[in-house]
Amino acid sequence: MMDLPTAFGLINALFCCYITSASSIEYGEFKPAQNQAVEDIKYDFVIKKFRVPLDHFSFSMNATFEMRYLVNDTWQRGNDPPIFFYTGNEGDIELFAQNTGFMWEIAPTFGACLIFAEHRYYGKSMPFGNESYSDSSHLGYLTSQQALADYADLISFLKSASNMKHSPVIVFGGSYGGMLSAWMRMKYPHLVKGAIAASAPILQFTGITECGAFARVVTSDFRIAHPECPKTILKSWTAIANVTSTENGRKWFSENWKLCQPLKNSSDIKVLKDFLTDIYGNLAMVNYPYASNFLAPLPAYPISKVCSYLTNSNQNDMALLLDLNKAISVFTNGTGNSKCLSVSENSSPNLDSKGWSYQSCTEMVMPMCTNGVDDMFEKIPWDFKKFSDDCYQNFKSRPQPYLACEEYGCQDLSAASNIVFSNGLLDPWSTGGVLSNVSSSTVAILIPEGAHHLDLRASNPHDPSSVIQTRQIHCNFIKKWIHEHWVPIDDKNTVQHEIISV
Ligand SMILES: *[C@@H]1O[C@H](CO)[C@@H](O)[C@H](O)[C@H]1NC(C)=O
Ligand SMILES: *[C@@H]1O[C@H](CO)[C@@H](O)[C@H](O)[C@H]1NC(C)=O
Ligand SMILES: *[C@@H]1O[C@H](CO)[C@@H](O)[C@H](O)[C@H]1NC(C)=O
Ligand SMILES: *[C@@H]1O[C@H](CO)[C@@H](O)[C@H](O)[C@H]1NC(C)=O
Ligand SMILES: *[C@@H]1O[C@H](CO)[C@@H](O)[C@H](O)[C@H]1NC(C)=O
Ligand SMILES: *[C@@H]1O[C@H](CO)[C@@H](O)[C@H](O)[C@H]1NC(C)=O
Ligand SMILES: *[C@@H]1O[C@H](CO)[C@@H](O)[C@H](O)[C@H]1NC(C)=O
Repeated sequence: MMDLPTAFGLINALFCCYITSASSIEYGEFKPAQNQAVEDIKYDFVIKKFRVPLDHFSFSMNATFEMRYLVNDTWQRGNDPPIFFYTGNEGDIELFAQNTGFMWEIAPTFGACLIFAEHRYYGKSMPFGNESYSDSSHLGYLTSQQALADYADLISFLKSASNMKHSPVIVFGGSYGGMLSAWMRMKYPHLVKGAIAASAPILQFTGITECGAFARVVTSDFRIAHPECPKTILKSWTAIANVTSTENGRKWFSENWKLCQPLKNSSDIKVLKDFLTDIYGNLAMVNYPYASNFLAPLPAYPISKVCSYLTNSNQNDMALLLDLNKAISVFTNGTGNSKCLSVSENSSPNLDSKGWSYQSCTEMVMPMCTNGVDDMFEKIPWDFKKFSDDCYQNFKSRPQPYLACEEYGCQDLSAASNIVFSNGLLDPWSTGGVLSNVSSSTVAILIPEGAHHLDLRASNPHDPSSVIQTRQIHCNFIKKWIHEHWVPIDDKNTVQHEIISV
């Protein structure tokens, strides 16, 4: 059982994937999203494999493995077409291909070839097959640096085709994938002309972003839906503690919530609370203006639906917990097919959470804390020592909280160029995003009505106008980068322009 040290399992599981059972990536009763995803498939592609070194940074071993990538060349035009390359994140790449409609929609206009690359250790890109997660000696090659080097090799390979020798490459990504696309442009500017980095919290690291910020945005999303809603949730923590303090109370709770495994002891209750905390974070991320199926099948503005059951914080504990169960079912039982609620399961079964747990226990340490005053959660301070000890217990590795900023830069991004950082302000991850313009070519686009990388999703009649505008800005930058690829900027003109604009 993985004992989560923080309020948000999310910290162990960036964009959603909290797991309590570190020993299993099988899912039990609760898997609505997986079932639904099959019916929802919209885009077609060819699945290919490409062999990459296990360790890009060593001369002492030459093991390799096959990573997967998806190709759609239907709209590719002429010689040296643009390559639109999605830098895959922590999950099966097919999920991200299906949820990145923006790339599919603009490919015909640009005559581009679409590539979606799968991140090592996720989906079917397993360096050691079913042994990949068996211990730290197998897991040690799961790093963002190695993944970027995989993508660099794949891009070089794609560009070795005779009709792609001079193709401009534009990278895209959302969430951790957006962090990778931004870093790809920073680290491999000779391979990549520009990056669309949507909802990429490249600043969500120690000493850069305050640990309580994420929880405050989650809370404010719930407050917008209904002012009583965060108050009810805040009260629910004590209500859970009160009710489950007796044997009879635990029985009552387990029956009324239809739990797959009845609550037995205090660690079961902690698992339940962590599960709920994760669901609130997930809901804030996918609070999209239309029904969607990214983390789970959800209605439009799912937080409004959840909060429609949480409008009265002045009830007795049991009544409050029955309301909370209805509210949670919006997320856990969207299909109405769930027979029982398994709180020990991954709260977002579409993503591979164990890999992200490992990444957050090594490079991707994103401090999270709550205080129950500025947010609707129990007070849980950030405790790095405990976090580190838990990581050691689970993976025999200790996190390096400053590694990401040392490796990629956080405070000084001034040497970066040709990156669009877009952030929805409803998205709790925006707190770790780049929210102000760095230079004329590394820009921040704020989407007041946007949730987690809404701009990368397919267009929808319910899209807020700020998202539509953001997609237009993306297109304008992509056009500019491709143009500059063919017609390099005249140095003298640039200098003059800079002087005039100062
Ligand atoms: C590319 O995608 C389009 C739209 O989904 C589809 O019609 C076409 O068959 C796909 N091409 C390939 C090669 O998969
Ligand atoms: C690398 O591969 C070659 C054969 O392909 C093998 O002879 C050699 O021992 C390998 N080196 C290492 C360090 O594994
Ligand atoms: C991996 O698969 C092989 C063969 O299918 C099996 O013998 C082995 O026990 C499996 N290992 C793990 C860790 O599941
Ligand atoms: C929990 O119980 C305590 C004391 O028994 C009570 O003061 C408190 O109001 C209860 N909490 C809720 C949310 O009802
Ligand atoms: C609580 O019960 C579970 C089984 O439901 C067991 O695995 C776990 O070890 C128990 N924990 C404590 C602290 O007693
Ligand atoms: C899920 O919804 C269906 C239909 O409303 C209901 O019969 C079932 O009991 C629910 N499952 C859980 C675990 O609450
Ligand atoms: C950054 O600059 C772009 C113009 O390139 C502008 O549209 C955008 O609003 C600016 N972002 C911020 C946060 O000021």
